[in-house]
Amino acid sequence: MTGPVGPGGPAGPVAAQPPAPQDGRRPVIDLRRVTKIYGEGVAEVRAVAGVDLVVDHGDYVAVMGASGSGKSTLMNIIGCLDVPTGGRYLLDGVDTRRLDERRQALLRNRKIGFIFQSFNLIPRTSALANVELPLAYAGIGSRQRRERAVAALERVGLGDRLRHTPNELSGGQQQRVAVARALVTQPVLLLADEPTGELDSRSTAEMLDLFAELNEAGRTLVVITHEGEVADRARRVVRMRDGLVLDDVRLRPVVDRSAAAVGS
Ligand SMILES: Nc1ncnc2c1ncn2[C@@H]1O[C@H](COP(=O)(O)OP(=O)(O)OP(=O)(O)O)[C@@H](O)[C@H]1O
Ligand SMILES: [Mg+2]
Repeated sequence: MTGPVGPGGPAGPVAAQPPAPQDGRRPVIDLRRVTKIYGEGVAEVRAVAGVDLVVDHGDYVAVMGASGSGKSTLMNIIGCLDVPTGGRYLLDGVDTRRLDERRQALLRNRKIGFIFQSFNLIPRTSALANVELPLAYAGIGSRQRRERAVAALERVGLGDRLRHTPNELSGGQQQRVAVARALVTQPVLLLADEPTGELDSRSTAEMLDLFAELNEAGRTLVVITHEGEVADRARRVVRMRDGLVLDDVRLRPVVDRSAAAVGS
């Protein structure tokens, strides 16, 4: 990995990295024949029915598909919130199959920043404290925590709202706090599930501009969305149906900004 070392220090207990590919970089996401099957017999549901998906550093992928097509199930696997029934998943080169729950949580905290539809901020708690929280979990000292949280909030344009609590912020501002919280650990992947689902059109436009900026600076993004206007801004659109990738269309090339990703 060429990006910064995560908050927990170097690769540590989740090491066991395979050799890097010839270009010297592993994909961020490498899913091979991944399945997720719920229930048994007549009640069996193949929520993810055999997905191959490789996402390289710097890509910006929108995942679309009808309700029940398996998007959230796939996102839970990508986010290490759930384990596949079959197949193999390498996250930034780390094979997630061999990890127990604790190591999976470590890997998740170190590699992924999550953004949810409903912001998921802690109420009655300042923007600053909300953004500091993942750093506190990672055991980072209070002074560095503060500095990094302020920088992340400035990055999303909220340098003048540090002490505001969620109920004192607009929906769009709350979602930007959530983006700052996702960014503050310097993850290799930003994973968003319907991030603009609760935003008005103006806040949606601002959020899409912010995502584009972060991606231009080298961040890798995967965004689940029902909205065509959101997918149109991505570099690549993956459409799911019945647990399978129906099509995978590249709208824009991936610009190699690997060096830039470090500072964003
Ligand atoms: N815990 C579970 N147990 C049994 N079946 C499940 C479970 N979770 C999801 N499913 C089934 O798996 C399929 C895929 O669900 P999933 O939530 O991934 O769809 P989705 O594409 O995210 O839909 P939506 O757009 O409505 O959020 C659905 O048929 C769903 O009923
Ligand atoms: Mg869903």
